[in-house]
Amino acid sequence: MTITNKTATLSFDDKQLTLPMHSPTAGPDVIDIRKLYAEGGVFTYDPGFTSTASCDSTITFIDGDKGELLHRGYPIDQLAGKSHYLEVCYLLLYGELPSAEQLEDFENRVTMHTMLHEQMTYFFRGFRRDAHPMAIMVGVVGAMSAFYHDSTDITDPWQREVASIRLIAKMPTIAAWAFKYHIGQPLVHPRNDLDYASNFLRMCFAVPTEDYEVNPILSRAMDRIFTLHADHEQNASTSTVRLASSSGANPFACIAAGIACLWGPAHGGANQACLEMLREIGTVDRIPMFIDRAKDKGDPFRLMGFGHRVYKNFDPRAKVMKQSADEVLELLGVDDNPVLQVAKELESAALADPYFAEKKLFPNVDFYSGIILEAMGFPTSMFTPIFAVSRTVGWISQWKEQLEDPAHKIGRPRQLYMGATTRDYVNVEDR
Ligand code: CMC
Repeated sequence: MTITNKTATLSFDDKQLTLPMHSPTAGPDVIDIRKLYAEGGVFTYDPGFTSTASCDSTITFIDGDKGELLHRGYPIDQLAGKSHYLEVCYLLLYGELPSAEQLEDFENRVTMHTMLHEQMTYFFRGFRRDAHPMAIMVGVVGAMSAFYHDSTDITDPWQREVASIRLIAKMPTIAAWAFKYHIGQPLVHPRNDLDYASNFLRMCFAVPTEDYEVNPILSRAMDRIFTLHADHEQNASTSTVRLASSSGANPFACIAAGIACLWGPAHGGANQACLEMLREIGTVDRIPMFIDRAKDKGDPFRLMGFGHRVYKNFDPRAKVMKQSADEVLELLGVDDNPVLQVAKELESAALADPYFAEKKLFPNVDFYSGIILEAMGFPTSMFTPIFAVSRTVGWISQWKEQLEDPAHKIGRPRQLYMGATTRDYVNVEDR
């Protein structure tokens, strides 16, 4: 972090404070308010962190106005088009693209860790069959702390490395098993001769009576979905992971916290909510009614898969996802799917509507991902677990970066207290 010659001056009451400023390698300058309370006796107020940088990071950069997403400087469309998920994992974790040898070594290490401790199968069985796979994932990933004691010491760089590889490797197995358990089918173990995406598809769709032939186009589409969701700088779930980790919690507990945050419909849960919305709309003639509802201030309905806190232009991930959706649906011969027709018409209608243009609401990554996943055979309840599998590397990379920063400290926001001031307790009989 570089301190610039620029400063910001803040005047209030009879005080005048000079605050240092930092210039990032890309993006707007930031005002450093760390000494504000000590020197000025005031806090800042920013619910939702709309103007607050919580850390410095070298992993991911988003220019929301341009619709640009870079991982370690590389544009997401280039990574989605030319690279693959495990290579992007390496890039996010270690900062540079790997050599062929480094990539092979990394892929081997991930592949060797895909199995789960056998006793974990009992843990899955403890859930009700109708449990949402995200509920199972929060529980099982948190429980990894109880199974992998040799990688919970966050002060040991080797243990941090082992925990990182374990999480990336085992998350597809956990998500696939949550799915299998949820639908009442036997759990399918990973196979080390398959690539990351193919292995996941097979663990989800193979049954003891019939193996699953992995179609390379579907496997490529799955890998692309993983790649497009791999990291997204300080979003809600990543900030949750960083905050949980700031207290010194073990990596499995921190990632379980991230999964819990991702579940909400304003974040990762939007892909499930979006497909459910498209189904509810049902036919193109009902689109105007739903657009009107989204614009009505008195109606809580929002167009799922539209809008983003940071992107005020097209989400670059949505563009790649749309192209992938076209390829997959053509391959599967379902390009006349009514949900897809509704999605296409809804996108055009919303983009042509002044309300969405004025508020800069564009389709986000979740608008098309659900359509691809459904065409592949996943039920909507699996959409957010798949997002969790993909985002694990982002959480881990940000967790690792935070722990490697010697200046890191516990996250502890302040508040604007609006409650009662001191008052005396009144005995129950006198109230
Ligand atoms: N449909 C209709 N109106 C919307 C929508 C929408 N999807 N999104 C935002 N608005 C309106 C909102 O009503 C508000 O209007 P006004 O200024 O008149 O009060 C304005 O746009 C700004 O909205 P906001 O809620 O203040 O913006 P935010 O940055 O806090 O919220 C968001 C961002 C993603 C939560 C929101 O756009 C949303 O709820 N979208 C639908 C859910 C969704 O698709 N989420 C996935 C995000 S991408 C993947 C991920 O991050 O996990």
